[in-house]
This record gives sequence, C-alpha cells and structure tokens, in this order.
Amino acid sequence: MSRIPFEQLPVEVRQAMVDKAGVVRQATTVRGGMNSGIASVLVTDNGSVFVKGITADHPQAGAQQREAAVAPCLPPSCPRLYWHLEVEGWSLLGYEVVDGRHADYAPGSPDLLLVAAALTELQGISAPADVEIKQAEDRWQEYAQPGTVQHFAGETLLHTDFAPDNVLIAEGRARLIDWAWPTRGAAWIDSGALALRLMEAGHPVEAAVAFARRFPSWRNAAPEALAAFGAATAALWQEIAEQDGVAWKQAMAQQAATLGRALGGLQ
Ligand SMILES: Nc1ncnc2c1ncn2[C@@H]1O[C@H](COP(=O)(O)OP(=O)(O)O)[C@@H](O)[C@H]1O
Ligand SMILES: [Mg+2]
Repeated sequence: MSRIPFEQLPVEVRQAMVDKAGVVRQATTVRGGMNSGIASVLVTDNGSVFVKGITADHPQAGAQQREAAVAPCLPPSCPRLYWHLEVEGWSLLGYEVVDGRHADYAPGSPDLLLVAAALTELQGISAPADVEIKQAEDRWQEYAQPGTVQHFAGETLLHTDFAPDNVLIAEGRARLIDWAWPTRGAAWIDSGALALRLMEAGHPVEAAVAFARRFPSWRNAAPEALAAFGAATAALWQEIAEQDGVAWKQAMAQQAATLGRALGGLQ
C-alpha cells in the first residue's frame, strides 16, 4: 500500500474537503491499515476529522462504498461518519477522530475485555434491510465444505475483519473501525473471526476458543456450525497464503488450520 499525505491530493479534492470540514491547519498521516491511499487526521477550523480515501479505480473502491452505506447502522462503539465525498476520481470518508492506539490482543492484555465489550454490543445489531450487504453464505460458499454453508446464515450485522489495526483503544473503550466487509450472517462468525486473530497474537487455540465462548452466540451455536466455520476459515487462509507468501499470511494460514482442527472441521 502506498499512502500519500493530504498535501499531495489534487487541489480540487482538497478544496472539496475544506468545504466539508473547514480550513485545514494540520494534517497528519496515520500508521496502520491496509488499503487507504490517504489516511490522515485533519485539524481544521471546525475541529478534527479522520479522512480515509482511495481513488475510484482502486480494487477496494467497492469496499469503500459498502463502508459508507453501512455507517448509519453502526452501534456507538464505531466512530461516526460525518461525510462521504466523491470528487475528481477520489472517494473520501470523513470520520469522528478516535485519538487512540491499535488494540493489543496479546494474552493478558487489558484491551481484551474492551474488545469483548465492543463485540458484545455489535452482536445485538441486526443487519440493515435497506442497505445492500453481503450474505455470509455467499462470502464463505467457495471455502465451506459441501453441504455446510447454510450454517453461516443469520441476521446479525458482522464486521468479520478483526485485525488489531481495525480496533482502536481510546478512553477506556474499544472502537471498531474499517467496515470494508459488512456482512449479514450468524452472530458467532464474528466471535470466531476474533478468536483467530487472538491466536495470531499468541493465544493457544484452547484459550482463543474459550474467549469465543464468552459470547452467547458461540456457546449456542451447533457444533457442526463451528466445525463448518473452522474448515472454511482454514480453506480461506490457505488460499490467501498460496497467493502471497508474506510471513504473516503464512502464519495466519497455520493458525486457521489449527483452529479448524480444534473445532472438528479438519482432520
Ligand atoms: N476514526 C478514526 N480516528 C483516528 N484514526 C483512525 C480512524 N479510523 C481509522 N484510523 C486509523 O487509520 C488506519 C486505517 O484506517 P482503516 O479504516 O483501517 O483503513 P484501511 O485499513 O482500509 O487502510 C487505522 O488502522 C487507524 O490507525
Ligand atoms: Mg484497516
């Protein structure tokens, strides 16, 4: 990912942002994240705003549109979207600034409780009917073992990407950001997605699964559903690792296979 500073945006784009947000006094590019061509905190005459933007021809342009569409439906743990601009081939989202740091998922981290609280809040939210949103069955179809994908169906609004740089810790709360993959599906899917990320951060699989069991959705899920998730997650990460040899993707694929076995989805 190459990220440019605010000052390098075309002048028309900067002017459109000034019209929305006020005269920019300071712009600081943030660290972390994957896709955004610009990700900056702007201090303006009207206050601060976090801006993430990509060009309309970017492969993630669709994700940016999904993120904008779902924003009004998100719970309070998610920063508020102030505006969405499409100008001069750029798509820009202006958010409430969360002045914090990325979550630490390491075993024993005090952030874990905060992340659990944010996910508990999200688990109570139904996917909006009036926003076009992916179905979990469709997202996992390609990876699920034959005859198992129906387990993924449900009505809950899912985040599905709990990479630690998609969770900000500020003022004693965890805030869920980066809604590029909002999905309608079974609530336990998010508990499982988070469990895999805990494994990436060093939790043994038993501890990660025990963490998932904090959520009633996971405790109440049929064992076959969790096994289906384990198998599909392992297949998904195996594909990702085959396409790109970077170390973290290889490690994720190994962790996903371990989780798949622990959930009874893989031999
Ligand atoms: N509302 C916000 N306030 C402050 N910083 C943010 C905010 N949202 C995101 N960030 C920072 O910007 C980074 C990139 O944002 P994110 O939405 O994850 O986009 P992407 O990963 O697609 O580039 C995050 O990892 C975080 O460090
Ligand atoms: Mg991100």
